[in-house]
Amino acid sequence: MKVLVTGGAGFIAGNTVDLLLEKDFEVVVIDNFSTGFKELLNPKAEFFEGSFGDKKLLEKALQGIEAVIHFAAFSQVEESTRKEKEYWKNNVINSVVLLEEMQKKGIKKFVFSSSASVYGEPKKIPIKESAELNPVSPYGETKKTLEKILELYNSAFGLKSVSLRYFNAFGPKELHQPETHAIPNFINAVLKKEKINVFGDGKQVRDFVFVEDLAKAHVIALEKIEEFDFEVFNLGSGKGFSVNEVIEMIFRVSKKETEIDFLPERKGDPKKLTADISKAEKILGWAPETDLEKGIEKTLDFFKAELKL
Ligand SMILES: NC(=O)c1ccc[n+]([C@@H]2O[C@H](COP(=O)([O-])OP(=O)(O)OC[C@H]3O[C@@H](n4cnc5c(N)ncnc54)[C@H](O)[C@@H]3O)[C@@H](O)[C@H]2O)c1
Repeated sequence: MKVLVTGGAGFIAGNTVDLLLEKDFEVVVIDNFSTGFKELLNPKAEFFEGSFGDKKLLEKALQGIEAVIHFAAFSQVEESTRKEKEYWKNNVINSVVLLEEMQKKGIKKFVFSSSASVYGEPKKIPIKESAELNPVSPYGETKKTLEKILELYNSAFGLKSVSLRYFNAFGPKELHQPETHAIPNFINAVLKKEKINVFGDGKQVRDFVFVEDLAKAHVIALEKIEEFDFEVFNLGSGKGFSVNEVIEMIFRVSKKETEIDFLPERKGDPKKLTADISKAEKILGWAPETDLEKGIEKTLDFFKAELKL
């Protein structure tokens, strides 16, 4: 199958492109390097530099494509509160351009990177897909909106889509600049002998899912997409770890320690966020295979190599 991957020079897409190529999919990537990196591009994929919202580029990139996996987006929660217009334009308007161009070419399969941020502050833990959607950031709103649009594209045009709501992804190739995610920041601080900054008391619990497990879920979603109209799945580990537990684990696995600075709590940071992943287990037949400790080991190896340690 020939697949277009948007955002293929980014963290999660970069890992997924590697797996797709291993599994003999033909892969085409579009990326404009707004937050991605040339070094993350797999040279075996055909590459188009530019925006996935550029009709002329899509005209070329969509040739012969059977399915699209749409990762590209702006994805920093805090930034989205300051740059609401840019988030709306890139995550929603550009995505509609992509859907329209797919529609013109009769491409009917779409896998979408959604996010646990669609839920906002959950009323019940672990969170099920059926929970109320109450995003607290413009970023979360853009994901919720695109899910609704996908549902409408299914009833109007027969587009088959799967929306994957990731919880806290981590793993190799996470090179965001600036980095707002806990695990890569903690690992880099430990390796560079710098202070770790923790917002709040570190007792907040999150669901960390290893990026290679996420990549596998995308391949399964593609393989099964004919069975669905519009379907959403939580992708997490199904387990919760506090930020303090994660730091202890990084210290233990790396055999290194560093100072921890506890900063004021961030507004709107829920105390506990964990995924109910039973729907993905039952319907996709997907389950995470890499536990947090093993994942941290692999991520440490990646950053040691990056820092030439
Ligand atoms: N990282 C997480 O924990 C997490 C959690 C939930 C959801 N997500 C979602 O997963 C997706 C991938 O996240 P990531 O962490 O890998 O992000 P990333 O920033 O590493 O990757 C995004 C890629 O998209 C590209 N891009 C952005 N806008 C573009 C445009 N208009 N045209 C072409 N390329 C463009 C960027 O250059 C980058 O390479 C995003 O949609 C994000 O919202 C991520």
